[in-house]
Amino acid sequence: GTGKFFVGGNWKCNGTNESIEKLVEELNSAKLEEDVDVVVSPPYLYISKVIGSLTKRIEVAAQNSWTGKGGAYTGEISADQLVDAGVKWVIQGHSERRHVIGETNAMIGTKSAYALSKGLGVIACVGEKLEDREADRTTDVVFEQLQAYADAVSDWSNIVVAYEPVWAIGTGKVASPQQAQEVHAAIRQWLKEKISPEVSSKTRIIYGGSVNGANSAELATQEDIDGFLVGGAALKGPEFATICNAV
Ligand code: G3H
Repeated sequence: GTGKFFVGGNWKCNGTNESIEKLVEELNSAKLEEDVDVVVSPPYLYISKVIGSLTKRIEVAAQNSWTGKGGAYTGEISADQLVDAGVKWVIQGHSERRHVIGETNAMIGTKSAYALSKGLGVIACVGEKLEDREADRTTDVVFEQLQAYADAVSDWSNIVVAYEPVWAIGTGKVASPQQAQEVHAAIRQWLKEKISPEVSSKTRIIYGGSVNGANSAELATQEDIDGFLVGGAALKGPEFATICNAV
């Protein structure tokens, strides 16, 4: 792997005051290895509550942010506001935002660049749909998504790339370690050719899609898997800690 292992827990649109208090308690009492960066991503509404109660050992990410500074954009949250609230990271280009909400590559690039300019780290998601994989278009799609980030940002030092094949998200069909490694290696090579050898060797490439406490250790042995972005299993504190400690 490259750099420090990085595990993000994306809570998506889940939780209540009660369940989030319980999850924070579980995370606060979890024993986490030292050599792993751990980040959790609550829904916007609960971010301040989580930051106020969660151990400082774990940083907080938002699941999205607006394309620029605030103003008359009903329903949006700006990166400036996230920074003000103590948020350190933001997830961009998650498949659910691309394919359910309809965000475009260009919009995701703009959001990422603005968030980086405000000092947030960006978890930049990419990933192919099943139909892309079946048509042998996996790397075409992933490279096009990467290019959209590259068109918008110039500094990659605060970016973590998350490879999440859409067919593996929330389906229980985790990519095999070989399938994931193959795409991670292709992403690393793309970064080397299109950005720089330095960015390629320093950027963490994490895997997401049905990661759990039982499959994380084997995935973590792969050379180019530098961590995980976890959905469902991140809602259970002890299991999420097991995944963090798969490093
Ligand atoms: O951001 C997380 C991913 O979408 C993975 O979700 O672990 O529930 O498959 P999942």
